Amino acid sequence: MPTLHDFFANKTIVVTGAASGIGAALASVFAELGSKVAICDIDESALAGVAKVLRTSHPDMTLFASGLDVSSQADWQTYLANVATHCGHIDVVINNAGIEGSSQPVWASDDDVLKRVMDVNFYGMVYGSKAALPYLTQRSWAALINVSSIFGFVAPPNTADYCASKFAIRGYTESLRAELELVHPQIQVHLVHPGGINTNITRLAQSQKFKERFLTTEPKAIALHIATSIMRNKARIVFGNQAIKTYIASRILSLKWLSKLTGKEIAGLGMEEDYRTDHEGFNVKK
Ligand SMILES: NC(=O)c1ccc[n+]([C@@H]2O[C@H](COP(=O)([O-])OP(=O)(O)OC[C@H]3O[C@@H](n4cnc5c(N)ncnc54)[C@H](O)[C@@H]3O)[C@@H](O)[C@H]2O)c1
Repeated sequence: MPTLHDFFANKTIVVTGAASGIGAALASVFAELGSKVAICDIDESALAGVAKVLRTSHPDMTLFASGLDVSSQADWQTYLANVATHCGHIDVVINNAGIEGSSQPVWASDDDVLKRVMDVNFYGMVYGSKAALPYLTQRSWAALINVSSIFGFVAPPNTADYCASKFAIRGYTESLRAELELVHPQIQVHLVHPGGINTNITRLAQSQKFKERFLTTEPKAIALHIATSIMRNKARIVFGNQAIKTYIASRILSLKWLSKLTGKEIAGLGMEEDYRTDHEGFNVKK
């Protein structure tokens, strides 16, 4: 088995959502491993900060940093064309960018939030995968990595919008994987299911207690695990606080028990108020 450095040196790695959290940690890990790194994010000023740190710590690295809203299909074409020009080729694309949902029960949540979550988390991954394939098929080895979640296995209360996007990523990627296995087996397709990772994903007031309780694994740890899993061609990557336990529970428990258990897990997270409040068209109080 080669070392991680031998394996990834001079390969071009594209990471979306790289201005923060898991994406920033991936960029840093692949820079350490001698890769050419192409990063993008909708938050251009935070991305510039990450690029500055990378350039300072790795002055000789090949780095391409540019703003990209992953939910814009046309911008994907331009972005990857620019990466290919700057880096020469594209070997690995990691569709990591994502946002949280409303963190509210279905009857209290806004459909515009659901649409945005699907646009960024699901369609961002779709556009990224389709735009990447023409580049990846040119290589003798390549990898496409789509970041789902443990909420691509189980669906607790107050996560319907987020879970819809993460289950969809899983279904789409598993099918794409089976297709490429038939025609381009040299392209590895991986699904990442992070558990609770200590990042900035939870920006809403109602999700802060969830963050405190669950988001405890450091982003660097999952970034290293992802790199190792790509090298070892491990298709499903399950890592982080509560991840393995949740994955196993989703495989062995009935839906009835999963619903009960996930309901218990979110008790005391300050979300109960939504269940005591009437919403238009949905009367909670009896
Ligand atoms: N943190 C966790 O516990 C956890 C658990 C499971 C899955 N995930 C997934 O991991 C991925 C990374 O999340 P994170 O935890 O590092 O969050 P984060 O908020 O720290 O980083 C996400 C990055 O994506 C960027 N982004 C948001 N919308 C974008 C868009 N339209 N186009 C381009 N970039 C955009 C943000 O600006 C941010 O820099 C997400 O897909 C998330 O759903 C995270």
